[in-house]
Amino acid sequence: MRDVLLIRASPHDGGVSDGVSKLVAKALEKQRCSVTVMALRQHTITPCNGCGGCARPPHTCVFSKKDEAQGLLDQIAGAGLVVFCSPIYFYALPAQSKALVDRAQSFFQRQPSREMERLPSVCVLNAARTAGAELFRGTLLTLTYFFQALGRELIAEKTLRGLETRDDLQKRREILPEIDVFFANVLKTLHESQ
Ligand SMILES: Cc1cc2nc3c(=O)[nH]c(=O)nc-3n(C[C@H](O)[C@H](O)[C@H](O)COP(=O)(O)O)c2cc1C
Repeated sequence: MRDVLLIRASPHDGGVSDGVSKLVAKALEKQRCSVTVMALRQHTITPCNGCGGCARPPHTCVFSKKDEAQGLLDQIAGAGLVVFCSPIYFYALPAQSKALVDRAQSFFQRQPSREMERLPSVCVLNAARTAGAELFRGTLLTLTYFFQALGRELIAEKTLRGLETRDDLQKRREILPEIDVFFANVLKTLHESQ
């Protein structure tokens, strides 16, 4: 049994990304994973103001005791496997989840050792557009370096296009088996690398 932290990054309660994250949870449970859900919209996350306070030892954020970001980041950093589910807003992460990413600056300032074994992370991104070669590019870069700051590695991504509403998701019957296959492969790769 593998413990998985499933992050819901969408501000839209019951939206497309929540729907996708439910399919993801089912796929993970089929792979004998135990899933804990973290919905970012339920938490208070103050945006980084770039004050530079975390640049000096002990690299503590000035907001660390004033909101919930530090606890969320500690939980993400320590999870066996993280799955980050998010919609694309203006070619990027939604603002609340980007605020959490920016708060990882205090982890970046601690400079995790390059030699340390990095824990695996995966993302599942959904967007309305059906075209656009660069649609997910910025978000994938952001998540790559977010996870790196937390001592983790983004090992795989699943991107879903043409999903404007929950109706679109319901009509697209092929998505459930695609997500099943994607996570079967992720778990197989992780199992083989142990
Ligand atoms: C503020 C905002 C910005 C968006 N920007 C984009 C975009 O740049 N490209 C795109 O394909 N879809 C964009 N969309 C559409 C969403 O990515 C899409 O509808 C997604 O499936 C919504 O997921 P949600 O219901 O969890 O918010 C945007 C939606 C919103 C609300």
